[in-house]
Amino acid sequence: MNMQGRSAIVTGGAGGLGAATVRRLVENGVRVAIFDRDALRAGDLAKELGDAAAAVGGDVNNDDDVRAAIEAARLFGPLSILVNVAGGGVGGGRTVGRGGVPHDKDSFVLTMEMNATGTFNVTRLVAAAIGENEPDENGQRGVVVNTASIAGMEGKSGQVAYGAAKAAILGMTLPMARDLAPMGIRVCAIAPGVIGTPLMLGALEHLKEDPAAGVVFPKRMGYPEEYAILVESIISNPYLNGENIRLDGALRFTAK
Ligand SMILES: NC(=O)c1ccc[n+]([C@@H]2O[C@H](COP(=O)([O-])OP(=O)(O)OC[C@H]3O[C@@H](n4cnc5c(N)ncnc54)[C@H](O)[C@@H]3O)[C@@H](O)[C@H]2O)c1
Repeated sequence: MNMQGRSAIVTGGAGGLGAATVRRLVENGVRVAIFDRDALRAGDLAKELGDAAAAVGGDVNNDDDVRAAIEAARLFGPLSILVNVAGGGVGGGRTVGRGGVPHDKDSFVLTMEMNATGTFNVTRLVAAAIGENEPDENGQRGVVVNTASIAGMEGKSGQVAYGAAKAAILGMTLPMARDLAPMGIRVCAIAPGVIGTPLMLGALEHLKEDPAAGVVFPKRMGYPEEYAILVESIISNPYLNGENIRLDGALRFTAK
């Protein structure tokens, strides 16, 4: 899909992968509603990007907040792109901890809500809005890109909640693509491995883990810009649909 003159919503757009995506879309002539619960950081990025972006503070599970993001994006041009990046872990831990303590149920539910329910909620509302566009020469009205994780395929011990939440996002890709095909909307998901966002760098430093451990080639963490390049490719290539795409330098998480 030709991006020039279109508008987009990037959830989690103030974060590491989200901000890189916002910048890349703007470079492609897209005007972006940066939708993030961190309104301050979203505002800073929007200010830096001038009239190419607007900040919308809000939560992906709040329908009124999502509608505000839709309205903001529509003021910029036909809303044709949704990139669901908002997500992350809430706590974590083993199903039964070392001392025999069961995993906290609330943090499991919160992790599912933040990642899986939030991605579904924004997509259902935004896709309905995208469906009102005129189709392009390929019959396309828009593209949705979701963000899972390789933990959704091979979660480590201690990642049961996050792994389940990201697996739910992977499981949405094909049925969403099938549901939205009659509206001319494609859906793909990206499953990143370890990407050097400030959040990830902080977590790895805390755990004293080698950030490139297990990465095959190139032997380093991914750059947020490499995530953004994949988002750009998915939007540009009209034949990519219904697929979960790993972005991980051939990293495979092992049992530890
Ligand atoms: N960085 C990595 O290595 C990596 C690997 C695999 C998957 N991911 C996934 O990529 C996404 C982005 O990761 P990141 O490293 O950029 O993290 P990040 O924390 O920098 O970005 C996440 C952003 O989402 C926002 N957010 C969180 N919950 C929200 C909600 N309910 N409503 C609105 N906004 C919300 C946060 O404020 C933040 O700005 C996450 O979904 C994460 O699980 C990241």
